Amino acid sequence: MSKRILLIVSGGIAAYKSLELVRLLRREGIAVRAVMTQSAKQFVTPLSLGVLTEDHVYGDMFDLKEEREIGHIELSRQADLIVVAPATANILAKMAAGIADDLASTLLLATDKPVLTVPAMNVRMWHHKATQRNLAQLRADGIHVMEPDEGVMACNEWGRGRLPEPPAIVAEIKALLAVPRGLDPLADQPDFADEERVSRLAGKHVLVTAGPTHEPIDPVRYITNRSSGKQGFAIAAAAARAGARVTMVAGPVGLPTPTGVTRVDVETAREMLSAVETALPADVAIMVAAVADWRSADEAPRKLKKDGAGAPAPLELIENPDILAIIGASPHRPGLLIGFAAETNDVVPHAKAKLAKKGADWIVANDVSGDVMGGTHNAVHLVTAAGVESWSEMPKDAVAARLVEKIADALSE
Ligand code: C5P
Repeated sequence: MSKRILLIVSGGIAAYKSLELVRLLRREGIAVRAVMTQSAKQFVTPLSLGVLTEDHVYGDMFDLKEEREIGHIELSRQADLIVVAPATANILAKMAAGIADDLASTLLLATDKPVLTVPAMNVRMWHHKATQRNLAQLRADGIHVMEPDEGVMACNEWGRGRLPEPPAIVAEIKALLAVPRGLDPLADQPDFADEERVSRLAGKHVLVTAGPTHEPIDPVRYITNRSSGKQGFAIAAAAARAGARVTMVAGPVGLPTPTGVTRVDVETAREMLSAVETALPADVAIMVAAVADWRSADEAPRKLKKDGAGAPAPLELIENPDILAIIGASPHRPGLLIGFAAETNDVVPHAKAKLAKKGADWIVANDVSGDVMGGTHNAVHLVTAAGVESWSEMPKDAVAARLVEKIADALSE
């Protein structure tokens, strides 16, 4: 069955982009029903939105005809996902406080469906402590918050606060709609079964490392590995969807920051260790990064040159700090510490040995002799003190969602 979005358009200059958003969603076969706030109608007309959705555009809670035909509760019940785009600072504040003073805010308070907010506002409004406080509250409540773009704003200022381009919003919507039922803690559940719909990691701080590291040899060369960062980013995204406060320390990869994740970019293993230590304490740490085991003993200040006689480069390697092992032995060790193990042979025996050696609670082990590094799928073994669970091959997003479920189970035990 095709998916259905309830799109709430609130009143900002970016409201005009909602028209393009509806057009793109419909092209993807996603049905859209729109609700506009009173101020949104100052920026785009209900008629334009209605033509594109091919549906009535809702706006007035006290419009008896609308209430008789379709009550405000029913509006959200029929949707797979509620999207607030653009989401003004005002509607975010109302959502965070639970204020219901118009149709849009009332149905946001009355819904148990997953909600994605796509903020757009002036840069100073975005950085204002009140807005950031409201966003933190919304994330803790399990609301998905998309990061605004940076750039020139309608008010001629520069900074973060621009509505992301509609294709990026569509991608985010499709990712949320695609999470398999039962894997996403926010996934569609029977209406109003509130106990079942709590965000399972709400109030928890989850720390994730992701991607490779770059270890400089000289100003133009470095040592690295084939890690794409996809699995670590997927885990950070899944933890954020489950309501956790997520800090992700990422090596150099070009992937977009998942919604609701605080990202700290680093280059080397030593920078990663320092960022991880700064981010602690955490309830859970998941060390997915493929940290380079070695670095050059002596980083050359200038580009190394061939000596002309064919002599080998003067490259001496020394070991990098083992971040997982250091955190495993630290007084700030998170209650649940999870490592990854990429192996090309004897995957499970190596993972079992690593559990003890690194002081981790779980090791997620995978065979990287194929194209796992950089690929979209992964087949992993979850190695714990209790035994080994082998999961069949699945998309990295699904591995992430399943791992997050396991983490939530472990924390609730
Ligand atoms: O020893 P190995 O590199 O196979 O261990 C992999 C696990 O240890 C991963 O969780 C990885 O993130 C972590 N690790 C680390 N620091 C290193 C090497 C590995 O945190 N220097």
